Amino acid sequence: MSIPFISAEEAASVIKNGDTVAFSGFTASGTPKVVTGALAQRARALHEKGEPFKINVFTGASTNDHVDGELSRANAINMRTPYQSHKDARNALNNGDMSYFDLHLSHLSQDLRYGFYGDIDVAIIEVTEMSPNGELILGAGMGMTPTIAQMAKKVIIEYSSYYQNSFRGFHDNYIPLDPPNRREIPIYKPSDRIGSTVLKVDPKKIVGIVPSNLSESIKPFTAPDELTQRIGDNITHFLAEQLRTGKIPKEFLPIQSGVGNVANAVLYGLGENPDIPQFEMYTEVIQDAVMTLMEEGKCRFASTCALTFSDDAMLRFMDNIDFFRDKVLMRPGEISNSPEVVRRLGLIAMNTALEADIFGNVNSTHVLGTKMMNGIGGSADFSRNAYLSIFSCPSIQKGGKISTIVPMVSHLDHSEHSVKILATEQGVADLRGKDPRQRAQTIIENCVHPMYKELMWDYLKLAEKTGGHTPHTLGAAFALHQAFQEKGDMLQADFAKFA
Ligand code: COA
Repeated sequence: MSIPFISAEEAASVIKNGDTVAFSGFTASGTPKVVTGALAQRARALHEKGEPFKINVFTGASTNDHVDGELSRANAINMRTPYQSHKDARNALNNGDMSYFDLHLSHLSQDLRYGFYGDIDVAIIEVTEMSPNGELILGAGMGMTPTIAQMAKKVIIEYSSYYQNSFRGFHDNYIPLDPPNRREIPIYKPSDRIGSTVLKVDPKKIVGIVPSNLSESIKPFTAPDELTQRIGDNITHFLAEQLRTGKIPKEFLPIQSGVGNVANAVLYGLGENPDIPQFEMYTEVIQDAVMTLMEEGKCRFASTCALTFSDDAMLRFMDNIDFFRDKVLMRPGEISNSPEVVRRLGLIAMNTALEADIFGNVNSTHVLGTKMMNGIGGSADFSRNAYLSIFSCPSIQKGGKISTIVPMVSHLDHSEHSVKILATEQGVADLRGKDPRQRAQTIIENCVHPMYKELMWDYLKLAEKTGGHTPHTLGAAFALHQAFQEKGDMLQADFAKFA
């Protein structure tokens, strides 16, 4: 059957107020780029006439300005899940203009199939190739596209002509059976392919094809600065030591690495350290650093959900695409982040914390316990199930007005049970086999910034007077946060009144 080409406006008109709309992609990669601009315009026009228009937005992970930016600026999002990292969406959800629930990325596809969140009215899917019988080749990010393609009542295709070379062969489309029929996900090493290179969609559901020629518009990552370099070096030396002492097998283990500049610095650090052997990755995103490590032969293979390359790096990838064909597989988020596979493969999981406490609990999401930054993303999919879960962050923020290591985290994402190693630019705390008091001592000694060490020892002494397995003086546990809120500086915290 022939599927018509339609304009972005025609596609947007298919979407009704109150609809649940699901998007392809993961990060900016593979996320639609054209229809949402027209949808935002429509929302604004309706709002000006006093008519309501808001949709529920389901995505693989964070998106791009075309989705989270355009739609939140137009106040067109009613409910959003599972993750965002866009400043306008962040403002909207913290202001209460948008309802947001923060979800483990590996959960969303199956939760949708279980029917927890109702029907998907429309799926908007970016493809790089398609055939008239509905066989699609996706782009640079998979997200939860296989599930939404299957579930959506209507599908809008954004056909990208940006990529000159074919992505065919990079995708591993796979949907596990749902309980009570689920079997094991048969991945025994990162390079095991389990699904199909093409995604099949019932062509009868496709309402039209909207042409697109836009890039992912991902900015280059900043080169590691002194701070991120020191965090990266600390983690690299720690891993090399683990290898030397046999706590990591000599073949090394697959790596998961979070997003951002610290993650990039750690990977560059691993690349440069001659004691770290060639390795593979089983992760949810690969950034520019991984591409370089592949070109240098340090990284043999990467299983990922997206190629989150800056535009320049993506052009380099495209120029040399045949070199990467047997080195990269893109999988749906429920597979790239599958706790079952993470546990089986024995990953070294490295993620970034906003704050951690002296007992090893980690807050990845809420600034001062209240304002959502991005979301938990895949960090818990990996860290809870990893062979070794490492969290890192700079020891201070805002020029030292904030200590990222605090007596008690103001919000909990990863409990002491999921955090094995904590690293800052100051050093590394190995929390394995330690009771809470021992953990506190190790973290204060190794990770806290020198300007906050005395304050943290004071807190521990005070808390030990209260006693308990995990000593806390509850009235004082948030004294640093309160000092920042009231006086703009955590260093102004004073435990004297609690003594
Ligand atoms: N209290 C208050 N503010 C803090 C803070 C703290 N403890 N820690 C950081 N900040 C501020 C920084 O000062 C900075 O502010 P600015 O934007 O005004 O400069 C901002 O938060 C971001 O800090 P930065 O150190 O640049 O963070 P990042 O880009 O390395 O991201 C996370 C860190 C935790 C927000 C990010 O990794 C994340 O969203 N993680 C959760 C999801 C995840 O782990 N995904 C990967 C799984 S694969």
